[in-house]
Amino acid sequence: MTTWLRALPKAELHLHIEGTLEPELMFALATRNGVTLPYESVEAVRAAYDFEDLPSFLGLYYQGMGVLHTQDDFYDLAMAYFARAREDGVVHVELSFDPQAHLVRGVPFEAPFEGLLAACREARSRYDISSALIMSFLRDRDPAEALEVFEQATPWHSAIDAVGLDSAERDHPPGRFAEVFARARALGIPGVAHAGEEGPAAYIREAWEALEVCRIDHGVRCLEDPELVARLSDARIPLTVCPLSNVKLKVTDTLAEHPLPALREAGLNVTLNSDDPAYFGGGMLDNYVACHEAFGWTRDDFIDMTRNALQAAFMAEERREALLERLA
Ligand code: ADE
Ligand code: ZN
Repeated sequence: MTTWLRALPKAELHLHIEGTLEPELMFALATRNGVTLPYESVEAVRAAYDFEDLPSFLGLYYQGMGVLHTQDDFYDLAMAYFARAREDGVVHVELSFDPQAHLVRGVPFEAPFEGLLAACREARSRYDISSALIMSFLRDRDPAEALEVFEQATPWHSAIDAVGLDSAERDHPPGRFAEVFARARALGIPGVAHAGEEGPAAYIREAWEALEVCRIDHGVRCLEDPELVARLSDARIPLTVCPLSNVKLKVTDTLAEHPLPALREAGLNVTLNSDDPAYFGGGMLDNYVACHEAFGWTRDDFIDMTRNALQAAFMAEERREALLERLA
């Protein structure tokens, strides 16, 4: 039934690599690194994944990533994700990671950067999955820290495809991070930002205008501001929408009530993504299948959104052309 959805050459543009940590690997890494988890079993971890909102998820997300210590841990995490992504028919992935969440635990830059870059190289040769790296800043921490972290990452600037902004959105407007996004842009590194997930449409406007981002992560609450919708639509700004995530974090009560159809009807440049698949009950294919079931979208609808993602990806032009041809 879903063979045709699997076969579409999908690009995943909104993925937190720390959010791909399945409970089995969490336990294995805890044992490897001598970390004590506050859970008895894998089943107990899964049972805890019942969230009220974004902050209630983030508590477990930051706790879970506490088992990640070494370069090998990050490599193993990403390779486990790439193997699942391949099964979903994913051909390109943009991995976002949160260096500050590791630095505060005493895990140096080298571990995530070198582990993830090695996994990206291996995924290309083993699975023909291309990738990009997005270094994200935590919006609920001091913008001066983000700037410092960006400068500390200088040896890896050439390996960063974009900078991002994530973590708790409410009461954390994006404009405070204008300086670090400008600094990245001056070095030729574009920006993306979470906005309009739990926060208001005004945060989307602010991320776009003050941070000059080229994509909005989530963005679903733009519908509250028709003038903004028209502008986003005219400018073809990609929205990296994550349907199963939005249901799990109660952005919408059910998938049937999700604003995705309205976003598409408004002419917005919508892409489908999984966000934190280990926590939200599914990867790319699960998100595609769930949307097929909830909205009755046809093959042409999914081709349209998959094309949007390929066009919005940080990807070599030659590869983009080849993948777009496979969609035709
Ligand atoms: N970090 C990981 N997942 C996130 C999400 N859905 N929103 C904001 N920050 C995140
Ligand atoms: Zn996200």
